Amino acid sequence: MSASASMTASASMTASASDFAKGLAGIVAGQTAICSLSGTLRYRGYDIEPLALAGDFEEVAWLLLHGELPTAAELAGFRTRVAAAAREVSGPVLAALERLAATTPAASPMDALRTGVSMLGLVEQDNAPGGRAALLAQAERLLGQTPALLAAWLDLTAGRPVAPWPDAPLGAALLERLTGRPPSAAEAAIFGTTLVLYAEHEFNASTFAARTVASTGSDMHSAITAAIGALKGPLHGGANEKVLEVLGTIGTADRARGWVEEQFAAKRVVMGFGHRVYKDGDVRAKLLGELCREFVRGTVGEPLEQLAAEVEAIMLERKQLKPNLDWPAARVYHALGLPVKVFTPIFVVARMSGWTAHVIEQVGDNRLIRPLSLYVGPDPRDYSPPAARG
Ligand code: COA
Repeated sequence: MSASASMTASASMTASASDFAKGLAGIVAGQTAICSLSGTLRYRGYDIEPLALAGDFEEVAWLLLHGELPTAAELAGFRTRVAAAAREVSGPVLAALERLAATTPAASPMDALRTGVSMLGLVEQDNAPGGRAALLAQAERLLGQTPALLAAWLDLTAGRPVAPWPDAPLGAALLERLTGRPPSAAEAAIFGTTLVLYAEHEFNASTFAARTVASTGSDMHSAITAAIGALKGPLHGGANEKVLEVLGTIGTADRARGWVEEQFAAKRVVMGFGHRVYKDGDVRAKLLGELCREFVRGTVGEPLEQLAAEVEAIMLERKQLKPNLDWPAARVYHALGLPVKVFTPIFVVARMSGWTAHVIEQVGDNRLIRPLSLYVGPDPRDYSPPAARG
């Protein structure tokens, strides 16, 4: 070892087993003023319940981005700019998606969103974070462009021309684009509630991915592209799609116990249950659960709720596990007539508000995110050239 290499090695930090927490469980990995989970979930200090019941996604997105609730005039201006962004997705990006839709129409809408956001960064030549005002403007554009990309991808893969973006608040407009008809007031309300509940959740895996990318000095679109990739996984955002698959597989309440026991025997997790942070139940699942039961009974009917209630009872009895937000959200989306493949992309649309707020917070007080690892590989050994290895 050269003198300089040995000096570097001896001066480097090393981790001990006592520092280690698998999956960073329980580790405080940074500070945030955006969201807190102590006691209950709060966005910028506001209890989640009234925000969720009001169900106004743009109001909450503004709150997350700016730290304060908007005035009526601020909210109106914000809504207009976000809707304008939804109508102004770049032509070259849509053209590229059109070609991809023609070649791979069965590709996942999550992949289309990840690729679409990445392409938006390319056409905007987004190569480094700008100042706060520039980042806020980017966040507003992404909030509008992302649902528009999702709706465009569904049109293009179905061989339809891309329909115009409706003149409505973001939640109702997206619902109209996804179902092909304007939603009722009740439908728009519960959909808005899900968007608010999905909007933000401090250092979850996708947000942490976005902050890690931003901490390197990289750009907003790169951070968001990474976040979408992280959200896709079934242990995170992908769980809401899996929940509906689970309910469909079980079929009826009388089959629930047998199915759940099979999962336990095979050491498989049951999607929509458990949470890294909430060990006594997810406050969001409790809130949406009540609305969900009423809404589902009035639309797709009682059997789905009987089945869900039976699975919940068994999970509690057998593992003391309670549902997370994905458990009721998947049933609400199904009752709204939405195809399963858009469930996680809807989560992307909502979480865009939290992600962009976190990127702005990270950039505003940055330090490179670079933890240590606990080495568990071979002891030091000597290199030999290929010819000497036999
Ligand atoms: N089904 C069955 N068992 C579960 C479970 C589930 N959904 N969630 C947790 N468990 C079990 C674990 O396997 C573990 O069992 P063990 O002690 O015998 O190994 C025990 O409960 C404790 O789990 P914990 O360490 O608290 O979980 P975690 O923090 O590592 O994981 C999740 C959290 C979310 C990844 C996990 O609960 C899960 O996979 N849930 C299903 C996917 C899902 O719904 N994701 C969306 C989250 S919002």
